[in-house]
Amino acid sequence: MGDETKFLRPDAILEPLVDGFYAWLHTVAPAQAAMNLAFVQIPLLESYLHSPQVHINACNNPQLRGGFFVNVGSARSGEIRDLLASIKRDRAVMLRFADAIAEAEEIVRQGATGFDLTPLYPKLPAELSGLVEIAYDTNNQAALRFIEPLMYESSAYTEDRQSVQFSLETGSERPFMLSTPRLPSPDVLDLRIPFRHPGLEELVRSRVHGTTLSRLREMLELDDDQATGLSRFLAAAPDLADDRHIDNGGRIRYFGHACLVMQTPQAAIITDPWVSSDASATGRFTYRDLPDYIDLVLITHGHQDHVVLETLLSLRGRVGSVVVPRSSRGSLADPSLALYLSHLGLPVTEVDDFSEVEFPGGKVTATPFLGEHADLDIRAKSTYVVRMAGRTMFVGADSSGIDPGLYRYVRGHLGEVDIAFLGMECAGAPLTWLYQALFTKPVTKKMSDSRTLSGSNAAQAAAIVTELGAHEAYVYAMGEEMWLVGHVMATTYNEDSYQLKQVDEFMTWCAEQGIKSDHLYGQHEWRW
Ligand SMILES: [Fe+2]
Ligand SMILES: [Fe+2]
Repeated sequence: MGDETKFLRPDAILEPLVDGFYAWLHTVAPAQAAMNLAFVQIPLLESYLHSPQVHINACNNPQLRGGFFVNVGSARSGEIRDLLASIKRDRAVMLRFADAIAEAEEIVRQGATGFDLTPLYPKLPAELSGLVEIAYDTNNQAALRFIEPLMYESSAYTEDRQSVQFSLETGSERPFMLSTPRLPSPDVLDLRIPFRHPGLEELVRSRVHGTTLSRLREMLELDDDQATGLSRFLAAAPDLADDRHIDNGGRIRYFGHACLVMQTPQAAIITDPWVSSDASATGRFTYRDLPDYIDLVLITHGHQDHVVLETLLSLRGRVGSVVVPRSSRGSLADPSLALYLSHLGLPVTEVDDFSEVEFPGGKVTATPFLGEHADLDIRAKSTYVVRMAGRTMFVGADSSGIDPGLYRYVRGHLGEVDIAFLGMECAGAPLTWLYQALFTKPVTKKMSDSRTLSGSNAAQAAAIVTELGAHEAYVYAMGEEMWLVGHVMATTYNEDSYQLKQVDEFMTWCAEQGIKSDHLYGQHEWRW
């Protein structure tokens, strides 16, 4: 029994969770996860338990979409109470760590006045011993620098928090990942395994390379009930599109949001992977359409809509390397993507501006990424120039045209670009939406609102295209495909939205210049 070859269904969803909350960079990386748990997630659950109806009403109010409200009916508030109690009990060490970081930040604020920093070290909380350095910049502004590889070995990081919840795509939007923890239910299978577990790789690889239930059972150490539960997600035959590979020329496919698959007969590249599990839907590419092997995964930056863990973990075992931009090392706002993803079992290549990565028949060059991080000093962000099958593509993600002069240098180094992909989410969320937990000194609303996660507006996008000498320009990464992005971005647009008006203005400008352009939505294909 259980020895027949089986394949993971294309409509299987795996949600990576930490203490029930959806996992992303800032809920997994040690310092950031501790601070998010202590300063955002616990207060959120407490607020819900204080008045569940306020949260439920807010979740039903479209104007409050993307807000921090727990979308769980009051009949299940007992489960939220239990979750909160287990977090407070099981994560006491982590919570103490978060308090220690806040104390250390205050010690630095008070004590680092431009003079010798040596006397501050004995005052630091014991939890941080061996894990931080305090240093001034040349303006005598001091900051803590975490020795981040060691943070993954410290008490701030524990894989006990990690689990994976399997479900089948229903076509309905999932609750917003930043605010609503996942609870157990009869429709899902929860496996309390670390994300790097080899059994998880065996399972996700079986979308293409078959396995057996008995092998999965052994690798994942499943009991009878779990094995029965898992069998619902397996099928007797693989479900893969016949045209997922090409045998001549080049092809680019837009999979939605910032996800592009670029292919030649020899190689495949995917940018900011985010793939729909809705195999029965039309008008979109899904897991059925992915090439069996992907040479390079290009990650542009750490925002939760660009490092989408549920897709990245689904690619384990079938990617050559995940290319990530190097962080500034050790600053709270800028956790290392390389450490994060390598701790999740993914092969990683770290790049700096203008680093080159070769693949069969082509080359990727990392290029600078400006802005879009609420003016925080975040270096783990990169755009890319990809050359394959005789064409040059610029992968711009959310990089803004805040100083278009940059792109003149890019063109000077790398020549003209054939196709530019540009993000134009030009009225992005405020600073505190993503970074609240990391500020141990309050930020005023006015200050937060003035600093946003915004990409290019029409004039900036036009300036980028002009400086790059791009022949074609496509607007993407707008968070419009709700079936894909709803639970991660909670964006709302209507025809009056500033962003969409700016896209129209940009496309009008492109038409006037004789530059081919489009506003990507759903799916798109280029073939040459
Ligand atoms: Fe972003
Ligand atoms: Fe984005």
